[in-house]
Amino acid sequence: MAATIEKELEEVKGKWQKTQQELDQTKSELHDVREELERSQSQLDEVLGELEQTHFELHQLKEKGGQQQSESNGEVEQELEETKAKLQETEQLLEQSQSQLGETMGVLEGYQSQMEQTMEVLEESQGKLQQKQEELEQVKAELAQKQSGSDAELQKELEETKSQLRESEELLEQYQSQLEETMEVLEESQSQLKHNQKDLEEVKKDREETKLKLQQTRMELRKLKGDYQAESIIKDLVNVLQETTKEEKIDLPQNFNQGSLHQHQRIARVAEYCVQIWPGDLIEIGCFIGETTKLLAEVAQKYNRRLMAVDPWELGTQNCRGGEYEAFLKNIEPYKANVDIVRLSSLDQKAISLIKNRELCFAFVDGLHTYDACLSDIKTVDHCQGVIAVDDLLWSPEVDSAFHKGAEIIQSRKLYLPICREGYLLPKI
Ligand SMILES: C[S@@+](CC[C@H](N)C(=O)[O-])C[C@H]1O[C@@H](n2cnc3c(N)ncnc32)[C@H](O)[C@@H]1O
Repeated sequence: MAATIEKELEEVKGKWQKTQQELDQTKSELHDVREELERSQSQLDEVLGELEQTHFELHQLKEKGGQQQSESNGEVEQELEETKAKLQETEQLLEQSQSQLGETMGVLEGYQSQMEQTMEVLEESQGKLQQKQEELEQVKAELAQKQSGSDAELQKELEETKSQLRESEELLEQYQSQLEETMEVLEESQSQLKHNQKDLEEVKKDREETKLKLQQTRMELRKLKGDYQAESIIKDLVNVLQETTKEEKIDLPQNFNQGSLHQHQRIARVAEYCVQIWPGDLIEIGCFIGETTKLLAEVAQKYNRRLMAVDPWELGTQNCRGGEYEAFLKNIEPYKANVDIVRLSSLDQKAISLIKNRELCFAFVDGLHTYDACLSDIKTVDHCQGVIAVDDLLWSPEVDSAFHKGAEIIQSRKLYLPICREGYLLPKI
């Protein structure tokens, strides 16, 4: 509002100044006209004076003419003619001056009326200007009033905020001191916890050792009781085989797939059976993408054992076309703490000595499917106290021959069924 009035005021002031300039110009023009008028008047006066003088001279000449009519009639006549001509000239001049005077007077009147109009406009503008100034003053006064009102409100708000701030600061200090106290307690608890953790780890270790001893004792006990007769183990394994081949289609055109549906689970169940009877770790030779490995690793983790996973994962060797090792790592990820990966051929001397130095309770031979390689693998794990499973007897005659030869060499009893693709070499009890 104030800004609009201010703007209007500026406009009016501008107009007023322009009008003032125009007025000044008109005044100076008027002044010039007056001067000219005065000059014309004095010229007229001069002419009138001359005219009077001429009349006077003419009168005198007439009188003189009466007296000297006789002597110089001719001279007087001439002089009269000259004077008459002068008189006519003077009268013409007089008429011209009078008409000029009339014109000048007209111009002057025009200027005067213009001046009057201008004065009216000027007065009007001055009146408006004054009005606007008054309005501006009023707005300013209102503004000042409002300002002082809002200043007071702001001040009040500021005070309130300040007091809130003080309260918050106090609260903050309280919280900080509480926090410090809590931190102290926490640190104490943490050190206590560390202590307890150490104790706990020792207790865990003791417990694992005790568990292992218990298992061994149980096993010894069962052995003493005669539970671990080869017959009872065969019976248990046959049960597992039957349970896991229930849904198999035994009329498949090629028999190598028989016993495949739940094979991974079956191998894991046999491994768990072994873990509960014999001490030692588990081994898988030929792991591929780790479908069986993850289940065996789970068993190892559950019973606090380890799983040896042996495979070179070499392109072109037995099913490997690339990416198998990465898939294997992904599969065993949750149990990797219990898995020892041996990325070597099981025929490698280094791998053989690593395996030989490990106590085993279960072995799964599923590496290179040639007679020599399979037989070598069976010999490599022949120190296993539990069951040795050998895969793919049903479709690979070389593996089948190696299985039977291996059983003969390591003097193991064999268990293999036509509904199952793998065969088992039983523990020497
Ligand atoms: C049939 S797959 C194993 C399948 C796996 N046991 C399972 O149940 O999912 C055969 C694997 O044997 C591995 N292999 C080939 N030659 C080997 C060797 N000399 N030593 C160990 N593993 C070998 C291959 O790399 C391949 O991953």
